[in-house]
Amino acid sequence: MNTEQFSTPLLEWYDKNKREMIWRDHFDPYYIWLSEIMLQQTRIEAVKEYFVRFTEELPDIESLAGVSEERLLKLWEGLGYYNRARNLRKAAKIVVQDYGGKLPADFNKLISLPGIGPYTAGAIASMAFNIKAPAVDGNVLRVVMRYMKCDDDISKISVRKKVERHICSIMPERPGDFNQAIMELGEVICIPNGAPLCEKCPLQETCRARAAGCQEEYPKKAEKKPRRVEKRTIIVWEWESRLGIQKRPEKGLLAGAYEFPSLDGWVTEKGMKEKIEQLGMTGYKISPLGGATHIFSHVEWRMKGYHIILDGGLEEPGLPRDVVFVTREELDQKYMLPVAFHSYFKRITTFGQT
Ligand code: ADE
Ligand code: SF4
Repeated sequence: MNTEQFSTPLLEWYDKNKREMIWRDHFDPYYIWLSEIMLQQTRIEAVKEYFVRFTEELPDIESLAGVSEERLLKLWEGLGYYNRARNLRKAAKIVVQDYGGKLPADFNKLISLPGIGPYTAGAIASMAFNIKAPAVDGNVLRVVMRYMKCDDDISKISVRKKVERHICSIMPERPGDFNQAIMELGEVICIPNGAPLCEKCPLQETCRARAAGCQEEYPKKAEKKPRRVEKRTIIVWEWESRLGIQKRPEKGLLAGAYEFPSLDGWVTEKGMKEKIEQLGMTGYKISPLGGATHIFSHVEWRMKGYHIILDGGLEEPGLPRDVVFVTREELDQKYMLPVAFHSYFKRITTFGQT
């Protein structure tokens, strides 16, 4: 990899082909930070809409530092990986306290903020502050491994570090554009899962994998261990047209979000009735809601659900674990209900259905 064969044609290609993104060409460090965090696990097209909504309500780091956790999670609802949002707010508070509300133009200070790892620190430093820092994500690793026909296992941190050093050593004068150019090449030309579009690639003449015709064998990666599968039974309690929800614990999967209560394993309708009666409830109507699956990074939920309508009355039914009853509108507009539960919410709700 060198300037003449790699960086120059790549930047030329980028200047002609770069895609419009709202956060690009703004050079607002907050915008760059927020977009990079959103983009970490989410497709660019999906991020755009969230980004607009988020920045309309929270236009700067001070407003992000001051937002309530409930509201923050609501704004993030649907993006997944909610710790990204919590860390954003934590970091914003530190930035307000220690740096007067402006992100520091310093790689080491950036990387010490919550939720900012080597990739994000490099992305912000290079794009917002023109610092010659590498920003190596999965796209960059794929492009570099193919270009060099390198057999290293990209799931190893040592390999990512090696690539970072390498990129640093050939970093041209426009570090932000250079980093984005490699990423973008990986997103639109040197694409994952299948054949890259080498005929359109600015690096085709010097790419080693292409020369050997083995592009699709790269990058090499150790097998991941399979996801744990969990069976769950989701219970949608309804009382006086309100739905029962509870807050999840502050730690772990979907921390702090709201959910429909659930039980481990799959419970039959008969078993469900027994459990309801054990709670001392007699007046109710139960209907099965069918199955649903939700995939998280390390777990897969295979769910069954029941809708249990309790007889009305003046007194709110006492359910275990602080279940609160809220209207469908409130649940839709105020509470962060993770996507894993959306299909059950839709199945018992007419408004908002498409
Ligand atoms: N993926 C993540 N951040 C990106 C950026 N700034 N440009 C292109 N692709 C990206
Ligand atoms: Fe990727 Fe093909 Fe370009 Fe090589 S020539 S970097 S394999 S798209």
